[in-house]
Amino acid sequence: FTISSLLHENFMHCMSTQFPNYTKNTQIIHIPSSPLYSSLLESSQQNPRWVNSTSPKPLLLLTPFHEAEIQAAVICSKIHGLQIRVRSGGHDYEGLSYLCKTPFVLIDLINLRSIEIDLEEKTAWVQSGATLGELYYAIVKKTGMYGFPAGLCPSVGVGGHFSGGGFGTMLRKYGLAADNVIDAYVINANGKFLGRQEMGEDLFWAIRGGGGESFGIVLSWKIKLVPVPPEVIGFTVSKTLKQGAGKLVHRWQYIADNLHEDLFIRVIIQDVGQGKEKTVQASFNSLFLGGIERLMPLMNQSFPELGLEAKDCIEMSWIQSVLYFTGYQKDEPLELLLDRTIQYKSYFKAKSDYVKKPISESGLQGIWERFLEEELVFMIMDPYGGKMNEISESEIPFPHRKGNLYNIQYLVKWEVNGVKASKKHLKWIRMLYGYMKPYVSNSPRAAYINYRDLDLGTNKIGNNITTYEEASVWGTKYFKDNFKRLVNVKNKVDPHNFFRNEQSIPTIPAWL
Ligand code: FDA
Repeated sequence: FTISSLLHENFMHCMSTQFPNYTKNTQIIHIPSSPLYSSLLESSQQNPRWVNSTSPKPLLLLTPFHEAEIQAAVICSKIHGLQIRVRSGGHDYEGLSYLCKTPFVLIDLINLRSIEIDLEEKTAWVQSGATLGELYYAIVKKTGMYGFPAGLCPSVGVGGHFSGGGFGTMLRKYGLAADNVIDAYVINANGKFLGRQEMGEDLFWAIRGGGGESFGIVLSWKIKLVPVPPEVIGFTVSKTLKQGAGKLVHRWQYIADNLHEDLFIRVIIQDVGQGKEKTVQASFNSLFLGGIERLMPLMNQSFPELGLEAKDCIEMSWIQSVLYFTGYQKDEPLELLLDRTIQYKSYFKAKSDYVKKPISESGLQGIWERFLEEELVFMIMDPYGGKMNEISESEIPFPHRKGNLYNIQYLVKWEVNGVKASKKHLKWIRMLYGYMKPYVSNSPRAAYINYRDLDLGTNKIGNNITTYEEASVWGTKYFKDNFKRLVNVKNKVDPHNFFRNEQSIPTIPAWL
């Protein structure tokens, strides 16, 4: 017997003791020597920086089919002194859903991904292990009249995305994914299975944007579907610096959050070309929830500088716009949305900011100069305003509402990994982040939890207690004043801090 096969036996025994009806389903427990263990572990990880020959691996990897198996796993992990990591889509930027420095069990929700649509109620129940692509596909198979306002990339998992907020092309009209959640089922630190009534409003509030991993395992979510028109317009207009990108981005900052809520225009900045040809390109990438006859007058009135022409506009259905924003052609098969393998798998590091006042032209110039010093660098600017201005900062834990013009995600990718290679890219993105300080929100310098960034600070590992003050350094960046309420909820629902990771909400022990 190896240690892990002994643990496997003990764990199975514990599971069947916890649930006498539990059939010994050996298919759900994978130990490191199991044939499927490695491929399962690597299957959904988005950032291959994290799983390599030296990274800590789970002692057991569980792929449950029923909530009872997760309940048993929570109780048995506690009994065996193991930590738990839960993974839905595996897109966590810092790999926190499948990495842990102390012995742990990984619960992968890949087999819990049913989606039930109720057209009469205009709602759906979706399990956390489903991807956004699976959700959008399931909706459109029932109706072309409704959609859901969540993220752009189809392989992102519902579990992590909804529990951190979740935004996409319809955020200006309908807000975040988490704003449209109306019920949920959670397994708490005692292994209890709770619906909205049993969990209470505090916990229900916390899991909609406060990061699910601090509070329990969210099994499923009831969401409100939102109406979408039969026809929408997608367009992308790209300009290099020579073609006036700088002035256009400068102007965009004054109008993007004030546009009609049917109109979402984000900007993707990236380096293009090589050697002397290298330059910076800004792509104005848009979804309009309506037809061209309404879009053109809106554009001519609010952003004529972009020079949008009818020939730039592609008419499509809402679900085709999901394909379009993923980089597919609108006529490609919708089944592509069901592909869980990640399209853009690469080593990367990302950081985020919120902008409250337009950045000056000279400030933007400094960004372009820095972009020319690196390769595979991106800055994605997502406009807020519209519905985001109408929801109060404390409605759910996600606090970045009125007063924010747009969100920035900085991203650097690289193709060859290794300590030395990654150091260079990490240094570059940290330098850019340092440069941006005077131009972005401050006190706190806000950040988006779903663009997880461990540079902002981490909890102490092991049994060392992280104090409220220590955790609030990064906690207030993600949650502003909602951080306090999140700590209170954590104290109430998980006082022994069973569900924890490097950036989970800490408990504050009574003696502190
Ligand atoms: P993963 O499974 O890695 O989980 C992320 C975190 O949530 C982990 O801490 C995990 O433990 C916890 N968690 C997961 N499931 C849970 C559950 N059931 N209960 C409790 N805790 C749970 N964001 C955005 O707002 N809009 C966008 O358009 C995009 N696009 C995008 C594209 C790509 C390629 C990537 C890599 C990421 C994005 N994101 C995004 C960010 C994305 O929203 C974020 O990474 C989510 O946390 C991913 O959720 P997963 O379930 O895939 O991650």
